[in-house]
Amino acid sequence: MAFTIAIDGPAAAGKGTISKAVAAHYGFAHLDTGLLYRAVGKQVLTGTAAIEAAQNLRAEDLQADDLRTPEVAQAASKVAVIPEVRAALVDFQRVFARRSGGAVLDGRDIGTVICPDAEAKLFVTASAEIRADRRFRELVANGLRVDFETVLDDVRQRDARDMGRKDAPLRPADDAIQIDTSELSIDEAIATAIREIDARR
Ligand code: C5P
Repeated sequence: MAFTIAIDGPAAAGKGTISKAVAAHYGFAHLDTGLLYRAVGKQVLTGTAAIEAAQNLRAEDLQADDLRTPEVAQAASKVAVIPEVRAALVDFQRVFARRSGGAVLDGRDIGTVICPDAEAKLFVTASAEIRADRRFRELVANGLRVDFETVLDDVRQRDARDMGRKDAPLRPADDAIQIDTSELSIDEAIATAIREIDARR
């Protein structure tokens, strides 16, 4: 039977790490839905219209290796406010969520809009400073030249845009379990997530 796990939260709260570990633990498929918006954002940076890019998005576009840059992240959060862009990406996400083996989707609106009937919903948070620090280290480790203040600014701007938009704003679903990872190690955060999901299986 399909079992869907929705993991939402702001940028760099630990969603990606937790989602990958949870998917591996249960043997489920994993979709990082931010990649859809990043792939659209990237095409907009090269001159394609946002709605057209979203409507023509192909699974291969999610494999591009330059989707993780701060420029693409900003472009992604700008296209993500456009209702037609969001609408064009719904089916892809819902089809993925119904995979028979079980699926983990992480993003901003999985528990509220994409999969409101998900069997388990997590909302992963951490303070903006801690999230910016994690993202900063990750970008540096990937060889990008960035400074901390710029990364913190980027996180705050994206938070404001994600929480303030009219269509599918970032917020916890009423039945989501909240996990604040500010004081947790990666292993503790993963263990907490698995404990909460097991309680719903
Ligand atoms: O998660 P990630 O940082 O890769 O997401 C990039 C941007 O895509 C977010 O800032 C957000 O604006 C948008 N997004 C969204 N809904 C999702 C996933 C991502 O609006 N489900």
